Amino acid sequence: MTQTTVSRRDFFKMGGGLAAGAGVAVTGLAPASAEAAPNTAVTLPYKPKTVARVKTMKVNQPVPFNYPDAASPCSAVKMGAPVPGGVGPDGDIVAFSVLCTHQGCPTVYDTTDRCFKCPCHYSIFDAEKGGQMVCGQAPSKLPQIVLEYDAKTDMIAAVAVNGLIYGRQANVL
Ligand code: FES
Repeated sequence: MTQTTVSRRDFFKMGGGLAAGAGVAVTGLAPASAEAAPNTAVTLPYKPKTVARVKTMKVNQPVPFNYPDAASPCSAVKMGAPVPGGVGPDGDIVAFSVLCTHQGCPTVYDTTDRCFKCPCHYSIFDAEKGGQMVCGQAPSKLPQIVLEYDAKTDMIAAVAVNGLIYGRQANVL
C-alpha cells in the first residue's frame, strides 16, 4: 500500500485550483442562463370564463370556480363596498386563486374577517385589499383574477390572472 503525503502548501494549491476550475465552470454557464431568460410575465390573458350573474351573488358569500383551467380553484366574493380591482355595478366583486402562495394549500374564505385563511401554516390574505398578505409565511399576495362585468347580461367573467398561481412558472400548465 502506497501512501502519498501532501504538504499543507500543496493541499491549498490544489484547493485553489479546484476553486478556480469551479469559477470557470460557473462563468461558462452564465451566458447560457442569460440566453434562456425566464418568462417574467405574471399577468396573462386567457379565454374569458363566466363566473356568475351578479344578482345571484350575496354579499360576503364566496362563489367557487376554476380559472384558467380545472386545476386552478378560485373564489369570487361580492364585498358589499368598492374595493381595489372590484367590478360589477357596485365595484365590489373580486376574485382570487385560493391556492396559498406559501405551499399551495387551498385557503378558505372567512366571512367574519373577510380574508382568505390558509389552514396549513396560517397565512391570511385580505380580500378587500387585493389579496394582500396580512400575516404568515406566504411570500406574496394571492393572485387576483381579473374580472369583467357585462351590464347587458349582468354576468361577471374571468379574463386574466394577475399574479403567479402557486406551483406554476407562468400561469400555464
Ligand atoms: S401553505 Fe399556506 S401558509 Fe403554508
